[in-house]
Amino acid sequence: MFVFTQQPSLANQFIAELRDVSIQRDRLRFRRNLERLGELMAYEISKTLPYNNVKVKTPLGVADTQVLRQQPVLATILRAGLPFHQGFANYFDQAENAFAGAYRGYVPGEGDEFEIEMDYIVGPDLSGKVLILCDPMLATGRSLEKVYHALLRYGIPAQTHIAAVIASPEGVRHVQQQLPQCHLWLGAIDDHLNEHFYIVPGLGDAGDLSYGAKV
Ligand code: URA
Repeated sequence: MFVFTQQPSLANQFIAELRDVSIQRDRLRFRRNLERLGELMAYEISKTLPYNNVKVKTPLGVADTQVLRQQPVLATILRAGLPFHQGFANYFDQAENAFAGAYRGYVPGEGDEFEIEMDYIVGPDLSGKVLILCDPMLATGRSLEKVYHALLRYGIPAQTHIAAVIASPEGVRHVQQQLPQCHLWLGAIDDHLNEHFYIVPGLGDAGDLSYGAKV
């Protein structure tokens, strides 16, 4: 597991801005900070991927260099995942993509109890590929688990990376227990989940802050 805020880097600054109530009201900046974290995480994950040695012809000669052997597949969960996913797509710029629509379906009369509802999924062939599943908030881990298993209908990836900006300790434990084969990349691990299953201190609702309140 790699946690960005355990090292000094600009990731700390971007996460601080995402959390700050006086900055996060600026939706464009909020989305762009999620995107910037996607870019930083894509770069860090890129250090673990295989490369081919190639020769590139320049106007003045030939340079020995390396290029990615195969682009990963980038997957995310609508809607909060979109800006974060865009950051990954900016760096893995030829990647294929998968999208799932998943949300908390609250059980009537059961307070904050919910089931994860999934009503949309689309993706390319995943067989033997590197899959990066990104979702900004790893709260309970149940939507990531459900979407990961649903994605397997497109083939078994050779390797899976799960990336999140803010995680709860409960969510991290859930993913490590249920999806032990996946590598975790996290911006920060926060204190706890509250009674509504929101991360504390967290940042609030990442989807609403990116795109406006839902009804
Ligand atoms: N989703 C969010 O947007 N925020 C949380 O704290 C938990 C889930």
